Amino acid sequence: MSVEVVERFRALWRSLEKIGRDEATGGYRRHGWDAHELACREWFAEEAADRELTVREDGNGNVFAWWGEPRTGDAVLTGSHFDSVPDGGGYDGPLGIVSALLAVDLLRERGATPRRPIVIGAFAEEEGSRFGLACLGSRLLTGVTAADTALALTDRDGVTLTQAIMAAGGDPATVGPDPELLSRFGCFVELHIEQGRALADLNAPVGLASAIWPHGRWRFEFVGDANHAGTTRMADRHDPMLTFAFTVLAANKEARLSGAHATMGRVAVRPNATNAVPGRVTAWLDARAATQSTLDGLIMSVTAKATERAARDGTTVTVTAESVTPVVDFDAALRDRLRGALNGIPVLPTGAGHDAGVLSAVMPTAMLFVRNPSGVSHAPAEHATDEDCAAGVEALATALEELACR
Ligand code: GLV
Ligand code: MN
Ligand code: MN
Ligand code: MN
Repeated sequence: MSVEVVERFRALWRSLEKIGRDEATGGYRRHGWDAHELACREWFAEEAADRELTVREDGNGNVFAWWGEPRTGDAVLTGSHFDSVPDGGGYDGPLGIVSALLAVDLLRERGATPRRPIVIGAFAEEEGSRFGLACLGSRLLTGVTAADTALALTDRDGVTLTQAIMAAGGDPATVGPDPELLSRFGCFVELHIEQGRALADLNAPVGLASAIWPHGRWRFEFVGDANHAGTTRMADRHDPMLTFAFTVLAANKEARLSGAHATMGRVAVRPNATNAVPGRVTAWLDARAATQSTLDGLIMSVTAKATERAARDGTTVTVTAESVTPVVDFDAALRDRLRGALNGIPVLPTGAGHDAGVLSAVMPTAMLFVRNPSGVSHAPAEHATDEDCAAGVEALATALEELACR
């Protein structure tokens, strides 16, 4: 890997890394259509214009920078997303876009002449941290999620997606599937920081994805009776917090037993007062597993245990699947071709969701991972070294050259 690419990576990364960073925690708050995410989109449009790429936004907040004629088909799409989870890391998403810009620079220097357009995409609201639905931009583009359903989603302040798009100067009427645009993409390669330690353990800077675990989000509504904390006898309470707490432990135990991953990382309590027994607890279960049957088994078992416990607590629980994504097996022919071009780099599965997972239903798709020494992700400590990021840029350039220039 060349020292020059490391320097270039550092310079371009620095020009982006301040946007949306909380200086106290080092974490990021870039959420779909908020000021920080819009500033990132603007940064992207400027970097693309500097490279004489043609920038086009679709009707769903996804921005595409074309090297080649935007009306030409069979384009090689690359890129990722700018948005983060609340107080998330800086690499999850933006690394794929920064690397793509630098890969285009490298290809030009190598004198490569693409036979197919190369397009860098920045997808909107991949984390679903604002409107609750992950991969919102790619789901809308492909029609996996209907426009009406999405436009009615609200953020934590009660702002609808319709309002957010209008506040950003967009037109909600343009939201929805765009088969014509999709038909111009021949394949997608997303570069992403690894969100585990597999590459670190293998001592490899870059790898390819084999599959994404089936995963989803389930909303648990625990309902009891709000009451006075000082005067309500313990025996008289119908406290949904107890049912919730039991469910957290049950999900954790079940996941450990079955080899799945289960997390309850978001909770809302009503009335949320120190001196009141709560009346309602809403909590979200994020669950993922290597196989669909393990995942289904986990959800069934946690639901049954929560229901049993609710009967004991004099509360009720209802479980709603908010989004469920089946296993994604990335295109084997594309992966083998890239693996050949990249000298047999390692291949690994992941438990994280990506726009690549959504787009794999409509075009051959591959993912490149860049080593994350600690494996930490969705947290401020998420990190990759500049040297590994440069190795990622070079790998992506080689992949794009293989696909677009041969
Ligand atoms: C998104 O990064 C997810 O896997 O939740
Ligand atoms: Mn993420
Ligand atoms: Mn991501
Ligand atoms: Mn993701």
